Amino acid sequence: MPLPALFRDALRVPVIGSPMFLVSFPPLVTALCKAGVVGTFPHVNARPSAQLDAWLSDIAAELVAHRAAHPGAVVAPHGVNLVVHKSNPRFEPDLDIVVQHRVPFVITCLGHPGRVVDAVHSYGGTVFCDVTSADHARKSMDAGVDGLICVGAGAGGHASAQSSFSLVREIRRFWEGCLVLGGAINDGWQIRAAEVLGADLAYVGTRFLATQESNAQADYKQMVVDSTVADLVYTDRLSGVHANFLRASLQRHGIDVSQLPPKRPDMSSLADHGAKLWKDLWSAGHGVATIDDVPTVATLVDRMVDEYRQACALPPSPAVAR
Ligand SMILES: Cc1cc2nc3c(=O)[nH]c(=O)nc-3n(C[C@H](O)[C@H](O)[C@H](O)COP(=O)(O)O)c2cc1C
Repeated sequence: MPLPALFRDALRVPVIGSPMFLVSFPPLVTALCKAGVVGTFPHVNARPSAQLDAWLSDIAAELVAHRAAHPGAVVAPHGVNLVVHKSNPRFEPDLDIVVQHRVPFVITCLGHPGRVVDAVHSYGGTVFCDVTSADHARKSMDAGVDGLICVGAGAGGHASAQSSFSLVREIRRFWEGCLVLGGAINDGWQIRAAEVLGADLAYVGTRFLATQESNAQADYKQMVVDSTVADLVYTDRLSGVHANFLRASLQRHGIDVSQLPPKRPDMSSLADHGAKLWKDLWSAGHGVATIDDVPTVATLVDRMVDEYRQACALPPSPAVAR
């Protein structure tokens, strides 16, 4: 399956650190790239647009300096996640900034990626589109994207209810291009499993949320460590789209999702609880089941590399008759 040239021989383990609202800030992005996996952030984490401009300059400069100081190191490319939605007033100005900085990797979500593909391809950049279902994948592939990102059940943030096993194989029936799989991938065994399933790269969010360099508050990271899957709530009553949340963060604000109206036109009743979605009401995926520390990104990626190598060396099952 075609891996874009940007990622060929460019990573220590086939992983993209996925963009996370209020969590992926430049320290996490650069730590991921320096550790040898792709570092990304949502453009809206930088507020206002002038800050996006500054962040992109700083990230590029830091990575150039790191490459110069460590000529033998694998330093991965960085990327930006753009919300391509008509209601997003920052889309056009921020796309211009992305083009000015010739950002090597762009992830689109929530809208047709065509405009971004044209703009980013004009300077040789790579564009992946985040899709939530096979139907969505079919619509996006005609736009000329270089890869599709699908996120299966159990993911942090907005998550589909479809199992990764089903989703990847369904998309692979019609998409031969680069495919990325996300959803509860924390370790090298799972990264290898994603490849065996038919993905080229793994998309990892929640696991990187609980690292030293992430911008999540200390209690948020600790809650991820302390939680099990039974401590998550999968609901559309907070954002209007199904997402996984840490129940304890809702309880702190007296929110019981079963008491909220089924379809929420806005966030007004949350304001009654004095809580802001994502900032105070925290999301995490089924990955919480195997997260029990808050290491540095470098330590975590070293661990993933070891596990991935072990998983790649697995022999076929002894159950198979020779
Ligand atoms: C706290 C949090 C915030 C997120 N914010 C965004 C976002 O702003 N844009 C986006 O495309 N995906 C966002 N996601 C989804 C991730 O990019 C990714 O799809 C997901 O984390 C992968 O599943 P995992 O968390 O189980 O590893 C977010 C996820 C989390 C946990």
